[in-house]
Amino acid sequence: MLVLLLLLEIFLLVQGEISRSKACQGDAYAETKIVALTFDDGPHPTYTMTLLDGLQERGVKVSFFVTGEHADLHPEVIQRMAEEGHLVGNHTYSHIGLTKSNEKKFRDELAATSELLEKLTGKETAYVRPPYGTWNKKLEKECNLIPVLWNVDSMDWSLQDVAKIKKRVLRSVKDGSIILMHDYFDTSVIAALEIVDELLKQGYTFVTVDEMVYD
Ligand code: NI
Repeated sequence: MLVLLLLLEIFLLVQGEISRSKACQGDAYAETKIVALTFDDGPHPTYTMTLLDGLQERGVKVSFFVTGEHADLHPEVIQRMAEEGHLVGNHTYSHIGLTKSNEKKFRDELAATSELLEKLTGKETAYVRPPYGTWNKKLEKECNLIPVLWNVDSMDWSLQDVAKIKKRVLRSVKDGSIILMHDYFDTSVIAALEIVDELLKQGYTFVTVDEMVYD
């Protein structure tokens, strides 16, 4: 009898472990909904600061792809981005788009911007967002930069309307989305923070693009 009871107890223990581990897997799966917010063309002396304040309040990290020109004008904003754990990437010096005839200038601009960002943040720049999304694969090795494109385009620069930007982003966002925005308009910054609040409510975790590219 005692042996039987012992066996029953072991059986129940094992069952319990199995159902518990299933539940854990379920929870872990639900928690893997990730999204990356990315901001191009900054920094802007006031809008980017407002955005950084809002992100800090919410404990959210994002990725900024800045031009060297704007970084030179507002170096303190770049330093704040890096200090607060955001990713700072290269968006060329003068927002130049790669064409067949300007490859050398394009490469020089990338190099100058990476150098400037390293000086300001103390970190090597590993990521680039090529303006207009035009890129040449061989530049990855030559410039030692990983290109990061996007799969949700907020069209914020053209809409400049908080409600429309929010609607456009929220209807297409899903697990693994990389959202393109610009911290160069007040409407973009307001919309971005409202999008953050909504996605946090929906259980999303915000990651920087380095976590997205490698995970
Ligand atoms: Ni741009």
